[in-house]
Amino acid sequence: METITLRNGVEMPKLGYGVFQIAKDETAGCVADAIETGYRHIDTAQSYFNESEVGIGIKASGIDRGELFVTTKVWLEHYGYEQTLRSVEVSLKKLKTDYLDLLLLHQPYSDVHGSWRALEKLYRDGVVRAIGVSNFTPYRLADLSAFNEIAPMVNQVETNPFNQQIDAHAYMTEHGVVQEAWAPFGEGKSGMFTNPTLVAIGERHGKSAAQVILRWLMQRDIVALPKSTHKKRMEQNIDIFDFALSDADMAEIAALDTKTSLFFDHSSPEAVERLARLVEERKGRE
Ligand SMILES: NC(=O)c1ccc[n+]([C@@H]2O[C@H](COP(=O)([O-])OP(=O)(O)OC[C@H]3O[C@@H](n4cnc5c(N)ncnc54)[C@H](OP(=O)(O)O)[C@@H]3O)[C@@H](O)[C@H]2O)c1
Repeated sequence: METITLRNGVEMPKLGYGVFQIAKDETAGCVADAIETGYRHIDTAQSYFNESEVGIGIKASGIDRGELFVTTKVWLEHYGYEQTLRSVEVSLKKLKTDYLDLLLLHQPYSDVHGSWRALEKLYRDGVVRAIGVSNFTPYRLADLSAFNEIAPMVNQVETNPFNQQIDAHAYMTEHGVVQEAWAPFGEGKSGMFTNPTLVAIGERHGKSAAQVILRWLMQRDIVALPKSTHKKRMEQNIDIFDFALSDADMAEIAALDTKTSLFFDHSSPEAVERLARLVEERKGRE
């Protein structure tokens, strides 16, 4: 598995396995399947409500903890210095581990700075090997970096052929922030898996559109976190290290960019209101 080196020297597998929207009763089996398939990087979050099941899947796989790269994310309900520290203790228990490889702030709202200082403490105490954020635009990254001691090492943002994040990627690269792609397939929206350009490029290489997308992310030095509950697709999604896209292929994919989210714009007031409602709806849920 190819890796990417974070600013602090930590190596992160470039391809990970995402567990968003996997039902609790399926998660442990899926995680064990993913590890058996060869994935060594698991991406979960407090707000996915499946950290316990991820922990069960990891134990069931029999793999040494040291061989895995495990990420979770602090949910808005737990923002603020003290609450963030407490919530991470709970996450560690659920995940059945005494450290995390990467801890992210899930959203750029509410008491981001208070929570970030908690992440800095966890990093200094050796509880987490790396810290970062998710859904931050460059200006929010700049703010967090300018008014704290440690700058985010990672930013996980929606990235796929229809929303390529070209300008944000340039900013992150310049500032030593590794980009992770959530929804690398855009959850299949807008015909992603049957897009004629992606399918035609795939045919030239004997690969699927999904594999072309993941390969395109690898070649842009962006970490990809595809999710699938199907073992055959997990196998397909990791089988991307035996071919390379040409400059012409990369240019064709670049032309698919709409610079628009397939989900919602995190910098809009509506997004803040939507997430605030979600926090209320999910309060206390385990
Ligand atoms: N930080 C954030 O705010 C945030 C937000 C969203 C997601 N994420 C992370 O990013 C991960 C991936 O994003 P996502 O789960 O939203 O979407 P995604 O990975 O873009 O798409 C997942 C969808 O694609 C299907 N699929 C997977 N591989 C396929 C293949 N080879 N051929 C055809 N269909 C395939 C899956 O179906 P099956 O499962 O039925 O195979 C599922 O419906 C998440 O699991 C999570 O870890 C983070």
